[in-house]
Amino acid sequence: MTGSNSQLNVDGKTLDMAIRKGSIGPSVIDIAKLYSQTGMFTYDPGFTSTASCESQITYIDGDEGVLLYRGYPIEQLAEHGDFLETCYLLLYGELPTASQKADFDYRVTRHTMVHEQMARFFQGFRRDAHPMAVMVGSIGAMSAFYHDSTDISDPHQRMVASMRMIAKMPTLAAMAYKYTIGQPFVYPLNSLDYTSNFLRMCFAVPAEEYKVNPVLSRALDRIFILHADHEQNASTSTVRLAGSSGANPFACIAAGTACLWGPAHGGANEAALQMLQEIGTVENIPKYIAKAKDKNDPFRLMGFGHRVYKNYDPRAKIMQKTTHEVLNELGIKDDPLLDVAIELERIALSDSYFIEKKLYPNIDFYSGITLKAMGFPTSMFTALFALARTVGWIAQWKEMIEDPSQRIGRPRQLYTGSPQRDYTPIGRR
Ligand code: SDX
Repeated sequence: MTGSNSQLNVDGKTLDMAIRKGSIGPSVIDIAKLYSQTGMFTYDPGFTSTASCESQITYIDGDEGVLLYRGYPIEQLAEHGDFLETCYLLLYGELPTASQKADFDYRVTRHTMVHEQMARFFQGFRRDAHPMAVMVGSIGAMSAFYHDSTDISDPHQRMVASMRMIAKMPTLAAMAYKYTIGQPFVYPLNSLDYTSNFLRMCFAVPAEEYKVNPVLSRALDRIFILHADHEQNASTSTVRLAGSSGANPFACIAAGTACLWGPAHGGANEAALQMLQEIGTVENIPKYIAKAKDKNDPFRLMGFGHRVYKNYDPRAKIMQKTTHEVLNELGIKDDPLLDVAIELERIALSDSYFIEKKLYPNIDFYSGITLKAMGFPTSMFTALFALARTVGWIAQWKEMIEDPSQRIGRPRQLYTGSPQRDYTPIGRR
Protein backbone atom coordinates (compact mmCIF):
# COMPACT_ATOMS: atom_id res chain seq x y z
CA MET A 1 0.00 0.00 0.00
CA THR A 2 1.25 3.49 -0.81
CA GLY A 3 0.16 6.80 0.70
CA SER A 4 -2.61 7.33 -1.82
CA ASN A 5 -3.03 3.95 -3.50
CA SER A 6 -3.46 0.26 -2.70
CA GLN A 7 -3.32 -2.70 -5.04
CA LEU A 8 -5.36 -5.87 -4.94
CA ASN A 9 -4.50 -8.95 -6.94
CA VAL A 10 -7.58 -10.93 -7.94
CA ASP A 11 -7.34 -13.87 -10.36
CA GLY A 12 -4.08 -12.52 -11.78
CA LYS A 13 -5.56 -9.03 -12.24
CA THR A 14 -4.07 -6.10 -10.28
CA LEU A 15 -6.54 -3.47 -9.19
CA ASP A 16 -5.57 0.00 -8.03
CA MET A 17 -7.80 1.32 -5.26
CA ALA A 18 -7.43 4.80 -3.83
CA ILE A 19 -6.57 5.27 -0.15
CA ARG A 20 -8.37 8.21 1.43
CA LYS A 21 -6.98 9.78 4.57
CA GLY A 22 -9.22 11.36 7.20
CA SER A 23 -8.29 14.42 9.27
CA ILE A 24 -7.48 12.04 12.15
CA GLY A 25 -7.90 8.28 12.61
CA PRO A 26 -7.71 5.34 10.20
CA SER A 27 -7.56 5.88 6.43
CA VAL A 28 -9.94 4.00 4.13
CA ILE A 29 -9.49 1.97 0.97
CA ASP A 30 -12.13 3.05 -1.55
CA ILE A 31 -13.55 -0.26 -2.84
CA ALA A 32 -16.59 1.22 -4.62
CA LYS A 33 -15.42 -0.18 -8.00
CA LEU A 34 -14.45 -3.63 -6.64
CA TYR A 35 -17.63 -5.41 -7.82
CA SER A 36 -17.68 -3.81 -11.27
CA GLN A 37 -14.00 -4.70 -11.78
CA THR A 38 -13.90 -8.17 -10.16
CA GLY A 39 -17.49 -9.41 -9.86
CA MET A 40 -16.73 -9.92 -6.16
CA PHE A 41 -18.02 -8.30 -2.96
CA THR A 42 -16.14 -7.69 0.26
CA TYR A 43 -17.40 -9.72 3.22
CA ASP A 44 -17.59 -8.04 6.64
CA PRO A 45 -20.65 -9.06 8.73
CA GLY A 46 -20.90 -6.75 11.74
CA PHE A 47 -18.91 -4.16 9.75
CA THR A 48 -15.82 -4.55 11.97
CA SER A 49 -13.56 -3.20 9.18
CA THR A 50 -16.03 -1.17 7.14
CA ALA A 51 -16.52 2.60 7.01
CA SER A 52 -20.12 3.15 5.88
CA CYS A 53 -19.81 6.88 5.29
CA GLU A 54 -17.68 10.00 5.62
CA SER A 55 -18.60 12.11 8.65
CA GLN A 56 -17.39 15.22 10.51
CA ILE A 57 -19.49 14.85 13.62
CA THR A 58 -17.95 12.41 16.15
CA TYR A 59 -14.54 10.80 16.41
CA ILE A 60 -13.67 7.81 18.63
CA ASP A 61 -10.18 6.43 19.26
CA GLY A 62 -11.02 3.06 20.80
CA ASP A 63 -7.43 2.22 21.75
CA GLU A 64 -6.82 5.52 23.55
CA GLY A 65 -10.36 5.86 24.97
CA VAL A 66 -10.91 9.20 23.22
CA LEU A 67 -14.34 10.63 22.24
CA LEU A 68 -14.63 13.97 20.42
CA TYR A 69 -17.85 15.77 19.38
CA ARG A 70 -16.88 18.06 16.45
CA GLY A 71 -13.29 17.90 17.80
CA TYR A 72 -14.11 18.80 21.43
CA PRO A 73 -13.23 16.12 24.07
CA ILE A 74 -16.29 14.70 25.82
CA GLU A 75 -14.68 15.43 29.20
CA GLN A 76 -14.59 19.18 28.47
CA LEU A 77 -18.12 19.35 27.06
CA ALA A 78 -19.50 17.40 30.05
CA GLU A 79 -17.59 19.63 32.47
CA HIS A 80 -18.27 23.08 31.03
CA GLY A 81 -21.34 22.99 28.80
CA ASP A 82 -24.98 21.95 28.95
CA PHE A 83 -26.89 19.46 26.80
CA LEU A 84 -28.49 22.03 24.48
CA GLU A 85 -25.06 23.54 23.82
CA THR A 86 -23.88 20.05 22.82
CA CYS A 87 -27.00 19.71 20.62
CA TYR A 88 -26.12 22.97 18.84
CA LEU A 89 -22.50 21.81 18.39
CA LEU A 90 -23.49 18.42 16.96
CA LEU A 91 -26.07 19.95 14.60
CA TYR A 92 -24.13 22.97 13.32
CA GLY A 93 -20.46 22.04 13.90
CA GLU A 94 -19.42 24.96 16.14
CA LEU A 95 -20.05 25.97 19.74
CA PRO A 96 -22.77 28.66 19.85
CA THR A 97 -22.18 32.28 20.80
CA ALA A 98 -24.25 33.54 23.74
CA SER A 99 -26.94 34.94 21.41
CA GLN A 100 -27.00 31.78 19.24
CA LYS A 101 -27.38 29.67 22.39
CA ALA A 102 -30.20 31.86 23.72
CA ASP A 103 -32.01 31.66 20.37
CA PHE A 104 -31.52 27.87 20.16
CA ASP A 105 -32.77 27.36 23.74
CA TYR A 106 -35.79 29.56 22.95
CA ARG A 107 -36.65 27.60 19.78
CA VAL A 108 -36.26 24.17 21.40
CA THR A 109 -38.29 25.21 24.44
CA ARG A 110 -41.19 26.32 22.25
CA HIS A 111 -41.40 22.98 20.50
CA THR A 112 -41.68 20.88 23.68
CA MET A 113 -45.48 20.48 23.63
CA VAL A 114 -46.92 17.60 21.58
CA HIS A 115 -50.16 17.63 19.57
CA GLU A 116 -52.98 17.19 22.11
CA GLN A 117 -54.34 14.19 20.23
CA MET A 118 -51.09 12.31 20.89
CA ALA A 119 -52.31 12.00 24.48
CA ARG A 120 -55.25 10.00 23.08
CA PHE A 121 -52.83 7.97 20.94
CA PHE A 122 -51.15 6.80 24.16
CA GLN A 123 -54.49 5.48 25.46
CA GLY A 124 -54.24 2.66 22.93
CA PHE A 125 -51.28 1.08 24.75
CA ARG A 126 -51.59 -1.35 27.66
CA ARG A 127 -50.57 0.30 30.92
CA ASP A 128 -47.95 -2.38 31.47
CA ALA A 129 -46.31 -1.84 28.06
CA HIS A 130 -42.52 -1.36 28.16
CA PRO A 131 -41.77 2.39 27.81
CA MET A 132 -39.52 1.65 24.82
CA ALA A 133 -42.43 -0.02 23.01
CA VAL A 134 -44.47 3.11 23.70
CA MET A 135 -41.57 5.33 22.52
CA VAL A 136 -41.11 3.46 19.23
CA GLY A 137 -44.85 3.71 18.58
CA SER A 138 -45.27 7.35 19.57
CA ILE A 139 -42.17 8.59 17.74
CA GLY A 140 -43.32 6.82 14.59
CA ALA A 141 -46.76 8.37 15.11
CA MET A 142 -45.17 11.85 14.94
CA SER A 143 -45.28 11.42 11.14
CA ALA A 144 -49.08 11.26 11.48
CA PHE A 145 -49.27 14.50 13.46
CA TYR A 146 -46.66 16.76 11.85
CA HIS A 147 -47.22 16.48 8.08
CA ASP A 148 -45.82 20.00 7.60
CA SER A 149 -42.26 18.82 8.38
CA THR A 150 -41.93 15.51 6.57
CA ASP A 151 -40.74 16.78 3.15
CA ILE A 152 -37.01 16.06 3.46
CA SER A 153 -36.22 17.96 0.24
CA ASP A 154 -37.20 21.23 1.95
CA PRO A 155 -34.37 22.54 4.21
CA HIS A 156 -36.86 24.52 6.28
CA GLN A 157 -39.00 21.43 6.93
CA ARG A 158 -35.85 19.44 7.79
CA MET A 159 -34.90 22.08 10.35
CA VAL A 160 -38.40 22.19 11.87
CA ALA A 161 -38.57 18.38 12.08
CA SER A 162 -35.13 18.33 13.74
CA MET A 163 -36.16 20.89 16.35
CA ARG A 164 -39.45 19.07 16.95
CA MET A 165 -37.70 15.74 17.50
CA ILE A 166 -35.10 17.13 19.92
CA ALA A 167 -37.69 19.18 21.79
CA LYS A 168 -40.46 16.60 22.01
CA MET A 169 -38.46 13.52 22.99
CA PRO A 170 -38.41 14.50 26.71
CA THR A 171 -42.18 15.11 26.57
CA LEU A 172 -42.83 11.74 24.90
CA ALA A 173 -40.48 9.93 27.31
CA ALA A 174 -42.16 11.53 30.32
CA MET A 175 -45.59 10.66 28.89
CA ALA A 176 -44.46 7.05 28.37
CA TYR A 177 -43.39 6.92 32.02
CA LYS A 178 -46.50 8.62 33.40
CA TYR A 179 -48.76 6.40 31.31
CA THR A 180 -47.22 3.19 32.64
CA ILE A 181 -47.60 4.32 36.27
CA GLY A 182 -51.14 5.58 35.79
CA GLN A 183 -50.41 9.21 36.61
CA PRO A 184 -51.67 12.19 34.57
CA PHE A 185 -49.40 13.68 31.91
CA VAL A 186 -47.57 16.85 32.98
CA TYR A 187 -47.24 19.63 30.41
CA PRO A 188 -43.80 21.20 29.78
CA LEU A 189 -43.07 24.57 31.44
CA ASN A 190 -41.25 27.12 29.25
CA SER A 191 -39.72 28.72 32.34
CA LEU A 192 -37.57 25.61 32.97
CA ASP A 193 -34.40 24.52 31.19
CA TYR A 194 -34.49 21.40 29.03
CA THR A 195 -33.50 18.80 31.63
CA SER A 196 -35.31 20.40 34.58
CA ASN A 197 -38.43 20.44 32.39
CA PHE A 198 -38.01 16.72 31.79
CA LEU A 199 -37.55 15.91 35.48
CA ARG A 200 -40.68 17.88 36.32
CA MET A 201 -42.74 16.18 33.57
CA CYS A 202 -41.65 12.81 35.01
CA PHE A 203 -41.98 13.39 38.74
CA ALA A 204 -44.46 16.25 39.30
CA VAL A 205 -48.04 15.43 40.30
CA PRO A 206 -51.02 17.82 40.19
CA ALA A 207 -51.52 17.43 43.92
CA GLU A 208 -48.44 19.44 44.93
CA GLU A 209 -45.71 21.81 43.78
CA TYR A 210 -42.61 20.10 42.33
CA LYS A 211 -39.21 21.62 43.04
CA VAL A 212 -36.39 20.59 40.69
CA ASN A 213 -33.19 19.58 42.51
CA PRO A 214 -30.48 21.56 40.62
CA VAL A 215 -27.77 19.00 41.46
CA LEU A 216 -29.83 16.16 39.98
CA SER A 217 -30.84 18.26 36.98
CA ARG A 218 -27.18 19.12 36.29
CA ALA A 219 -26.19 15.47 36.69
CA LEU A 220 -28.89 14.25 34.31
CA ASP A 221 -28.02 17.01 31.82
CA ARG A 222 -24.41 15.75 31.89
CA ILE A 223 -25.64 12.16 31.37
CA PHE A 224 -27.52 13.38 28.28
CA ILE A 225 -24.29 14.95 26.97
CA LEU A 226 -22.47 11.63 27.40
CA HIS A 227 -25.15 9.80 25.38
CA ALA A 228 -25.65 12.42 22.64
CA ASP A 229 -23.74 10.79 19.78
CA HIS A 230 -21.27 8.00 19.14
CA GLU A 231 -20.15 7.75 15.50
CA GLN A 232 -21.69 4.97 13.35
CA ASN A 233 -23.09 2.71 16.11
CA ALA A 234 -25.92 0.29 15.34
CA SER A 235 -28.84 2.67 15.94
CA THR A 236 -27.18 5.57 14.11
CA SER A 237 -26.45 3.28 11.16
CA THR A 238 -30.13 2.27 11.26
CA VAL A 239 -31.19 5.92 11.09
CA ARG A 240 -28.81 6.57 8.17
CA LEU A 241 -30.01 3.50 6.26
CA ALA A 242 -33.68 4.38 6.83
CA GLY A 243 -32.98 7.99 5.84
CA SER A 244 -31.15 6.94 2.66
CA SER A 245 -34.48 5.77 1.21
CA GLY A 246 -35.97 9.24 1.75
CA ALA A 247 -38.12 8.20 4.72
CA ASN A 248 -39.25 11.14 6.87
CA PRO A 249 -37.13 11.99 9.94
CA PHE A 250 -39.75 10.84 12.47
CA ALA A 251 -39.83 7.38 10.86
CA CYS A 252 -36.00 7.28 10.83
CA ILE A 253 -35.75 8.19 14.52
CA ALA A 254 -38.41 5.55 15.35
CA ALA A 255 -36.23 2.98 13.53
CA GLY A 256 -33.15 4.10 15.46
CA THR A 257 -35.08 3.89 18.74
CA ALA A 258 -36.15 0.33 17.95
CA CYS A 259 -32.54 -0.67 17.25
CA LEU A 260 -31.24 1.05 20.41
CA TRP A 261 -33.63 -1.06 22.51
CA GLY A 262 -31.56 -4.21 22.00
CA PRO A 263 -29.65 -5.42 25.13
CA ALA A 264 -26.38 -5.51 23.15
CA HIS A 265 -26.79 -1.77 22.50
CA GLY A 266 -28.77 0.84 24.41
CA GLY A 267 -30.77 -1.80 26.27
CA ALA A 268 -27.57 -2.71 28.12
CA ASN A 269 -28.14 -0.06 30.80
CA GLU A 270 -31.37 -1.80 31.83
CA ALA A 271 -29.71 -5.23 31.51
CA ALA A 272 -26.64 -4.09 33.50
CA LEU A 273 -28.73 -2.99 36.47
CA GLN A 274 -30.75 -6.21 36.33
CA MET A 275 -27.44 -8.12 36.30
CA LEU A 276 -26.17 -6.22 39.37
CA GLN A 277 -29.47 -6.96 41.13
CA GLU A 278 -29.19 -10.65 40.18
CA ILE A 279 -25.60 -10.80 41.50
CA GLY A 280 -26.91 -9.10 44.64
CA THR A 281 -23.83 -9.28 46.85
CA VAL A 282 -20.06 -9.00 46.48
CA GLU A 283 -19.75 -12.66 47.55
CA ASN A 284 -21.63 -13.76 44.42
CA ILE A 285 -19.31 -11.96 41.99
CA PRO A 286 -16.82 -14.82 41.33
CA LYS A 287 -19.68 -17.08 40.21
CA TYR A 288 -20.82 -14.53 37.62
CA ILE A 289 -17.29 -13.77 36.43
CA ALA A 290 -16.92 -17.52 35.80
CA LYS A 291 -20.23 -17.55 33.87
CA ALA A 292 -19.07 -14.59 31.75
CA LYS A 293 -15.86 -16.46 30.87
CA ASP A 294 -17.59 -19.79 30.14
CA LYS A 295 -17.87 -20.22 26.34
CA ASN A 296 -20.87 -22.52 26.87
CA ASP A 297 -22.72 -19.96 28.96
CA PRO A 298 -24.49 -17.19 27.01
CA PHE A 299 -24.18 -14.90 30.06
CA ARG A 300 -22.18 -11.74 29.47
CA LEU A 301 -21.23 -8.97 31.87
CA MET A 302 -23.71 -6.32 30.78
CA GLY A 303 -22.15 -2.88 30.67
CA PHE A 304 -18.79 -4.43 29.79
CA GLY A 305 -17.02 -4.57 26.44
CA HIS A 306 -17.38 -2.50 23.31
CA ARG A 307 -16.92 -2.91 19.57
CA VAL A 308 -14.69 0.16 19.37
CA TYR A 309 -13.34 0.90 22.86
CA LYS A 310 -10.49 -1.48 23.70
CA ASN A 311 -9.72 0.82 26.60
CA TYR A 312 -11.85 2.41 29.30
CA ASP A 313 -14.93 4.12 27.76
CA PRO A 314 -14.25 7.80 28.60
CA ARG A 315 -17.97 8.23 29.22
CA ALA A 316 -17.92 5.50 31.88
CA LYS A 317 -15.36 7.44 33.92
CA ILE A 318 -17.52 10.58 33.88
CA MET A 319 -20.58 8.42 34.58
CA GLN A 320 -18.91 6.89 37.63
CA LYS A 321 -18.09 10.36 39.01
CA THR A 322 -21.68 11.46 38.39
CA THR A 323 -22.98 8.37 40.21
CA HIS A 324 -21.11 9.34 43.38
CA GLU A 325 -22.32 12.97 43.02
CA VAL A 326 -25.97 11.87 42.78
CA LEU A 327 -25.77 9.32 45.61
CA ASN A 328 -24.12 11.92 47.87
CA GLU A 329 -26.78 14.54 47.01
CA LEU A 330 -29.50 12.01 47.83
CA GLY A 331 -27.79 10.99 51.05
CA ILE A 332 -27.45 7.39 49.86
CA LYS A 333 -24.38 6.34 51.82
CA ASP A 334 -23.99 2.68 50.92
CA ASP A 335 -25.81 1.48 47.83
CA PRO A 336 -25.28 -2.31 47.68
CA LEU A 337 -25.57 -2.20 43.88
CA LEU A 338 -22.75 0.34 43.72
CA ASP A 339 -20.64 -1.83 46.03
CA VAL A 340 -21.23 -4.79 43.71
CA ALA A 341 -20.46 -2.67 40.61
CA ILE A 342 -17.19 -1.30 42.00
CA GLU A 343 -15.99 -4.73 43.19
CA LEU A 344 -17.12 -6.39 39.92
CA GLU A 345 -15.14 -3.80 37.93
CA ARG A 346 -12.07 -4.27 40.17
CA ILE A 347 -12.13 -8.07 39.82
CA ALA A 348 -12.88 -8.04 36.07
CA LEU A 349 -10.13 -5.52 35.28
CA SER A 350 -7.56 -7.73 37.04
CA ASP A 351 -8.75 -10.95 35.36
CA SER A 352 -6.69 -12.17 32.39
CA TYR A 353 -9.83 -13.04 30.36
CA PHE A 354 -11.03 -9.43 30.41
CA ILE A 355 -7.52 -8.02 30.03
CA GLU A 356 -6.72 -10.16 26.97
CA LYS A 357 -10.08 -9.39 25.34
CA LYS A 358 -9.74 -5.70 26.30
CA LEU A 359 -13.12 -5.65 28.00
CA TYR A 360 -13.71 -2.51 30.05
CA PRO A 361 -16.81 -0.94 31.58
CA ASN A 362 -18.79 1.02 29.00
CA ILE A 363 -21.24 3.86 29.45
CA ASP A 364 -24.02 1.48 30.47
CA PHE A 365 -22.21 0.01 33.47
CA TYR A 366 -22.82 2.84 35.97
CA SER A 367 -25.71 4.72 34.36
CA GLY A 368 -28.38 2.39 35.76
CA ILE A 369 -27.31 2.92 39.38
CA THR A 370 -27.52 6.69 38.90
CA LEU A 371 -30.88 6.69 37.12
CA LYS A 372 -32.39 4.28 39.68
CA ALA A 373 -31.21 6.57 42.51
CA MET A 374 -32.90 9.49 40.75
CA GLY A 375 -36.19 7.61 40.86
CA PHE A 376 -36.42 6.22 37.32
CA PRO A 377 -37.61 2.61 36.99
CA THR A 378 -35.21 0.25 35.18
CA SER A 379 -37.62 0.09 32.25
CA MET A 380 -37.08 3.81 31.59
CA PHE A 381 -33.28 3.65 31.29
CA THR A 382 -33.15 3.01 27.53
CA ALA A 383 -35.86 5.62 26.92
CA LEU A 384 -33.51 8.17 28.53
CA PHE A 385 -30.69 6.93 26.30
CA ALA A 386 -32.97 7.42 23.26
CA LEU A 387 -33.93 10.91 24.47
CA ALA A 388 -30.27 11.94 24.59
CA ARG A 389 -29.20 10.12 21.41
CA THR A 390 -31.93 11.80 19.30
CA VAL A 391 -29.71 14.81 18.62
CA GLY A 392 -26.92 12.50 17.41
CA TRP A 393 -29.30 10.60 15.17
CA ILE A 394 -30.70 13.88 13.78
CA ALA A 395 -27.21 15.37 13.22
CA GLN A 396 -26.06 12.23 11.37
CA TRP A 397 -29.31 12.06 9.35
CA LYS A 398 -28.93 15.79 8.44
CA GLU A 399 -25.29 15.20 7.37
CA MET A 400 -26.35 12.28 5.18
CA ILE A 401 -29.28 14.14 3.56
CA GLU A 402 -27.09 17.16 2.83
CA ASP A 403 -24.32 15.00 1.30
CA PRO A 404 -24.70 15.40 -2.49
CA SER A 405 -23.08 12.00 -3.05
CA GLN A 406 -25.47 10.08 -0.78
CA ARG A 407 -27.40 7.19 -2.37
CA ILE A 408 -29.81 4.60 -0.98
CA GLY A 409 -27.91 2.10 1.17
CA ARG A 410 -28.12 -1.36 -0.36
CA PRO A 411 -25.55 -3.94 0.89
CA ARG A 412 -25.08 -7.23 -0.98
CA GLN A 413 -24.45 -10.78 0.38
CA LEU A 414 -22.55 -14.04 0.12
CA TYR A 415 -25.27 -16.44 -1.09
CA THR A 416 -24.86 -20.00 0.19
CA GLY A 417 -28.44 -21.16 -0.41
CA SER A 418 -29.76 -23.62 -3.01
CA PRO A 419 -28.80 -23.10 -6.68
CA GLN A 420 -31.77 -22.78 -9.09
CA ARG A 421 -34.09 -25.82 -9.12
CA ASP A 422 -37.53 -26.63 -10.59
CA TYR A 423 -40.86 -26.67 -8.73
CA THR A 424 -42.06 -30.14 -7.70
CA PRO A 425 -45.83 -30.69 -7.53
CA ILE A 426 -46.95 -31.60 -4.00
CA GLY A 427 -47.96 -35.10 -5.05
CA ARG A 428 -44.39 -35.85 -6.02
CA ARG A 429 -42.59 -34.52 -2.88
C1 SDX B 1 -23.51 0.62 23.62
O1 SDX B 1 -21.40 0.97 19.18
C2 SDX B 1 -21.55 1.87 20.08
O2 SDX B 1 -20.92 2.90 20.05
C3 SDX B 1 -22.59 1.57 21.13
C4 SDX B 1 -22.67 2.57 22.28
C5 SDX B 1 -23.20 3.90 21.82
O3 SDX B 1 -22.95 4.91 22.52
O4 SDX B 1 -23.94 3.95 20.81
O5 SDX B 1 -21.40 2.74 22.88
C6 SDX B 1 -23.65 2.07 23.36
O6 SDX B 1 -24.21 -0.14 23.00
C7 SDX B 1 -22.45 0.12 24.58
C8 SDX B 1 -22.35 -1.44 24.60
C9 SDX B 1 -23.46 -1.95 25.53
N1 SDX B 1 -23.58 -3.41 25.46
C10 SDX B 1 -23.24 -4.17 26.52
O7 SDX B 1 -22.72 -3.75 27.56
C11 SDX B 1 -23.58 -5.64 26.34
C12 SDX B 1 -22.41 -6.50 26.78
N2 SDX B 1 -21.33 -6.31 25.82
C13 SDX B 1 -21.23 -7.25 24.75
O8 SDX B 1 -22.40 -7.81 24.31
C14 SDX B 1 -20.22 -6.84 23.68
O9 SDX B 1 -19.11 -6.42 24.33
C15 SDX B 1 -20.61 -5.80 22.64
C16 SDX B 1 -21.89 -6.14 21.97
C17 SDX B 1 -20.73 -4.46 23.27
C18 SDX B 1 -19.50 -5.76 21.62
O10 SDX B 1 -19.54 -6.94 20.91
P1 SDX B 1 -18.46 -7.27 19.78
O11 SDX B 1 -17.62 -6.10 19.44
O12 SDX B 1 -19.17 -7.96 18.68
O13 SDX B 1 -17.48 -8.22 20.53
P2 SDX B 1 -17.68 -9.75 20.59
O14 SDX B 1 -19.08 -10.04 20.98
O15 SDX B 1 -17.14 -10.35 19.35
O16 SDX B 1 -16.75 -10.12 21.84
C19 SDX B 1 -15.37 -10.31 21.64
C20 SDX B 1 -14.99 -11.36 22.68
C21 SDX B 1 -15.88 -12.59 22.62
O17 SDX B 1 -15.11 -13.68 23.08
P3 SDX B 1 -14.48 -14.70 21.93
O18 SDX B 1 -15.64 -15.21 21.11
O19 SDX B 1 -13.51 -13.82 21.13
O20 SDX B 1 -13.79 -15.78 22.73
O21 SDX B 1 -15.20 -10.80 24.00
C22 SDX B 1 -16.20 -11.54 24.67
C23 SDX B 1 -16.96 -12.33 23.63
O22 SDX B 1 -17.48 -13.55 24.19
N3 SDX B 1 -17.07 -10.55 25.32
C24 SDX B 1 -17.55 -10.65 26.54
C25 SDX B 1 -18.29 -9.47 26.74
N4 SDX B 1 -18.24 -8.72 25.63
C26 SDX B 1 -17.49 -9.39 24.75
N5 SDX B 1 -17.43 -11.62 27.48
C27 SDX B 1 -18.07 -11.38 28.65
N6 SDX B 1 -18.80 -10.27 28.92
C28 SDX B 1 -18.93 -9.29 27.99
N7 SDX B 1 -19.65 -8.20 28.25
